[in-house]
Amino acid sequence: MCLKYFICILLCLCTVFGVHVSNLSGACLRCLCYVAGCDMSHGCSGGYCGPFYISKLYWIDAGKPTLPNDDPERDEAFEDCARDYFCSIRVVENYMAKFGKDCNNDGVTNCFDFMMINYHGGRACSDPLFLTDHGRRWLAKFQECRF
Ligand SMILES: *[C@@H]1O[C@H](CO)[C@@H](O)[C@H](O)[C@H]1NC(C)=O
Repeated sequence: MCLKYFICILLCLCTVFGVHVSNLSGACLRCLCYVAGCDMSHGCSGGYCGPFYISKLYWIDAGKPTLPNDDPERDEAFEDCARDYFCSIRVVENYMAKFGKDCNNDGVTNCFDFMMINYHGGRACSDPLFLTDHGRRWLAKFQECRF
């Protein structure tokens, strides 16, 4: 009974505050948003939703977080979460908890790696970003972030 209660409270807290990922600070989350576009009024375009331009596959890999009391299997659950700033932050946190790693092999897992993961996806994130125009735009925006 006691343990059941404790686990429930823990689960509730995790749903509200999200998982903790080392070096995924508030400043880093704001930077990841900035680099992706961070247009708060962006709905969905080309399969990418919300300020972080999250794809459905990314959301599924992140464990399908939803708005409070929503059902992840509901048709618009993905869109509604990704369009919401706080829900989309939970998507990014969950995704990094699962895929976060040292993509550029510099010995630390930091915001730069999380940015590479958002660019490439979590499974193969090590290609340098300067190889493409799109990647160079992301690099330039990342340089403007203050941590
Ligand atoms: C987080 O960043 C700090 C400073 O760059 C670094 O020392 C630390 O190893 C990083 N954490 C991980 C898990 O890589």
